[in-house]
Amino acid sequence: MLRHHLSLVKTLLHIDCSPLGDASISRNLSGEFVRRWTQANPSGTVIRRDLNAGHISAIDGAWVAAVFTPEEVRNSSQREIVSTSDRLIEELNVADEYVFGLPMHNFGIPAVLKLWLDQIIRVGKTFAIVNGAPVGLLKNKQAQFLIAAGGTYDPGTPLASFNFVEPYLRAIFGFIGVSDTKFLTAGGAAALRYGNIDRDSFLKPHLDKIEGWFKAAA
Ligand SMILES: Cc1cc2nc3c(=O)[nH]c(=O)nc-3n(C[C@H](O)[C@H](O)[C@H](O)COP(=O)(O)O)c2cc1C
Repeated sequence: MLRHHLSLVKTLLHIDCSPLGDASISRNLSGEFVRRWTQANPSGTVIRRDLNAGHISAIDGAWVAAVFTPEEVRNSSQREIVSTSDRLIEELNVADEYVFGLPMHNFGIPAVLKLWLDQIIRVGKTFAIVNGAPVGLLKNKQAQFLIAAGGTYDPGTPLASFNFVEPYLRAIFGFIGVSDTKFLTAGGAAALRYGNIDRDSFLKPHLDKIEGWFKAAA
């Protein structure tokens, strides 16, 4: 009975990437997602990781050497290097669901998210190669990506081929086994900067879409 109950208690990993704090559009959207998720999962746990609050180092030669040294023979500095990666992977394993708030920067994902990804893509931990083919090792996970962009990248528009955010995220998360995904892109945020639309009106359709996800799941 207890076991059954525990299995229903979910964990959400909430990752934010924008450097803009409260002014950030993507943080506003992920915050709304977390608020609704918490309502839907009152006894659930939220793990928060703000990629602008701490500093994840870029991988270097020492990192590569450390992760490819078998665990039993790593020296203390190698264990220290790998511990960051292990901790971040543990958060992915523990959580049932992930929500990412992220801005488009220079047509791609923000650098802090790339630094995080470089830590969590690990052979034997998040993917394996089986008979020459990659197999994702994260199982039964669901991920939501809430993206803010200054421009618009809808199919058929002039900049459509410049959007490297969504295709990259689909590819890299699919690679580690996370293909149950939802994407919301709040494009055209530049209009806010030029005063062409107020913040609430800009956010409304996107907040409504998030609400719709929870209604559909209820
Ligand atoms: C350094 C930087 C680079 C940006 N690069 C792009 C870009 O390539 N394409 C785009 O559409 N918007 C770009 N923008 C605009 C942001 O995507 C937009 O302001 C968005 O709201 C940022 O999300 P945030 O409010 O959550 O930080 C850039 C903004 C910054 C600060």
